[in-house]
Amino acid sequence: MLYMMMRVNLKTLLLVLVASVCSSLLTLWYYCGLKNSDWKSTLQYKHSVLDRASNELPGNEEIDCYINGEYSIGCRKEGDEVYLPFSFIHKYFEIYGKLATYDGLQRFEWSHSYSKLVSPKGKYDPRGVFMYFENYNVEVRERVKCVSGSDGVPISTQWESQGYYYPTQIAQFGLSHYSKNLTEPEPHKKTIEDSDKTQQTWTVPQGSVVSRQYDKLVNSYVMKYATPETSSSGISLKFDHVLDLVLKLDLCTKDNGSVTVVLQSREKKDVYYLHYTTRNLVMHTRDNHIYYGIGLSNNRWKHLTRDLVVDLQKGLNLNDKTKKKLSRSKLKAIKMILYGSGMIDNVTLSTSEHMEQFYDAARWLAANQNVTSGGWPNPVRRKVATGMATLEPGWYSSMGQGHAISVLSRAYYHSGEKRYLQAAIRGLRPFRLSSAKGGVAASFLGKYIWYEEYPTTPSSFVLNGFIFSLLGLYDLKTIALGKDADEASALFDQGMASLKSMLTLYDMGSRTTYDLRHFTLRTAPNLARWDYHAIHVNQLLLLSTIDNDPIFTTTAERWIGYMNGKRAAHN
Ligand SMILES: *[C@@H]1O[C@H](CO)[C@@H](O)[C@H](O)[C@H]1NC(C)=O
Ligand SMILES: *[C@@H]1O[C@H](CO)[C@@H](O)[C@H](O)[C@H]1NC(C)=O
Ligand SMILES: *[C@@H]1O[C@H](CO)[C@@H](O)[C@H](O)[C@H]1NC(C)=O
Ligand SMILES: *[C@@H]1O[C@H](CO)[C@@H](O)[C@H](O)[C@H]1NC(C)=O
Repeated sequence: MLYMMMRVNLKTLLLVLVASVCSSLLTLWYYCGLKNSDWKSTLQYKHSVLDRASNELPGNEEIDCYINGEYSIGCRKEGDEVYLPFSFIHKYFEIYGKLATYDGLQRFEWSHSYSKLVSPKGKYDPRGVFMYFENYNVEVRERVKCVSGSDGVPISTQWESQGYYYPTQIAQFGLSHYSKNLTEPEPHKKTIEDSDKTQQTWTVPQGSVVSRQYDKLVNSYVMKYATPETSSSGISLKFDHVLDLVLKLDLCTKDNGSVTVVLQSREKKDVYYLHYTTRNLVMHTRDNHIYYGIGLSNNRWKHLTRDLVVDLQKGLNLNDKTKKKLSRSKLKAIKMILYGSGMIDNVTLSTSEHMEQFYDAARWLAANQNVTSGGWPNPVRRKVATGMATLEPGWYSSMGQGHAISVLSRAYYHSGEKRYLQAAIRGLRPFRLSSAKGGVAASFLGKYIWYEEYPTTPSSFVLNGFIFSLLGLYDLKTIALGKDADEASALFDQGMASLKSMLTLYDMGSRTTYDLRHFTLRTAPNLARWDYHAIHVNQLLLLSTIDNDPIFTTTAERWIGYMNGKRAAHN
């Protein structure tokens, strides 16, 4: 009975809360308008504000509000209504809100979740955009140290601060650039020097030489250059490029040397030097000089694609903890300088080079696979949860495997190069091996096979990573032929059957869980934060475009409801 009454009271209170937010802009103005961004300090202002408010509106009074009999906060009473500070509601219910003014009116905007849904634009196509990845900017993320000068792929600092190659992230980098190529406007491209149609007058200091000659190996005229090792000035070319800040060039260095690009901020006249050097380093910053190691090319041609703004930003972030953000539109490239000796060809500056960056990822994946196991090893230790054994360096991830297969399937489709297809097919091997034996396949109650993003013991059954791995299998089954397609297809079907059976285990009635640790570890559920919840919904909507089982749409609709505060009914 007492319990019933408390429930009724709580319900009334909730109603009042909602009513107060909807109807009383005035109240909210006092509570939220003070310091919109800092809810904590709102509480400290409470008393003076309340006094002022009660003075202005007769019949208002300040009352204490007891929260579950545990502590009290200051509230306001207006007639029979009770108003609670939004700072309290925000923390208690994890509800978000802010003041917004438009159409000349100030409003309070309440939202249950902070994530936005991206709905699929049509039927999923393994040759097309990968999910909504055209919106991803993988290399810009803070947990990316930089884009490697020698491979052109991101180096992660997510689980190890010195930086490592994280196959999942490299594949996402590739998929985002592939997707951007299909969705963005055509890039603007300017040829700087190709020794052929476009030849520049470079400034050649005394003792240095420049010549143009035909190179049979590459079937093209190329520019040969040499500066003495003691020279500090280099062979240079001035230009003035505003938005074309992605550099592409073919380079063949004979010994130590570097290609330097000088950038300038358009307002403050700061000057930065980006050095792409054969010295043995990953990235190094000294004042306004940033160095990227590109490896020795040993008289072989090397293809280099560099987003100059990303390179500059990462270099500046290395020593500056404030992480000041640069704006692409406020920079220009003003000069290029060659040091050492070698040959150079096909130098361009563009607004983007998405396919080049996509192929950097595809090449890396093709070159860094364990061809015996078919896996892309994660070279870091990873502890997923207390009670689960630590994953030791070298573990495989179903998500990494699936993403890599998605990249390689597209690379094969786009280029026709067999080696990409072969690598993708090898990538299926860990799906057939149990997570206990170094693969990624786990079994749920001995009945359903699940591909583990983290092949932990006991199993973790992470939902989003599993669905990403299914997309990889779907891509390969669509793009491969014959028995390879059949094999990808069998693995896909097996995974889809498990997903359909197990999907609602992730449904908590008002949110979803990220994994099933509450079952395997018998602990509290690991609730998915809203951005993961939104990924779950997006994945289900995507699967509903390739499989018409109603479980995907009905579950997605319910989970969308959770983002707007709806709940499953109770008994
Ligand atoms: C996409 O790639 C093709 C080459 O495959 C290129 O011609 C086109 O300009 C690129 N478009 C964008 C937006 O990157
Ligand atoms: C430069 O581009 C041309 C045209 O695509 C190509 O034939 C040539 O081989 C390239 N040069 C190098 C060094 O790769
Ligand atoms: C290149 O630089 C390294 C040191 O960074 C040096 O040991 C090596 O002798 C140099 N090679 C040439 C050909 O200059
Ligand atoms: C590649 O995988 C095989 C089979 O799992 C393993 O024995 C071998 O050590 C791996 N190679 C490397 C370089 O990790």
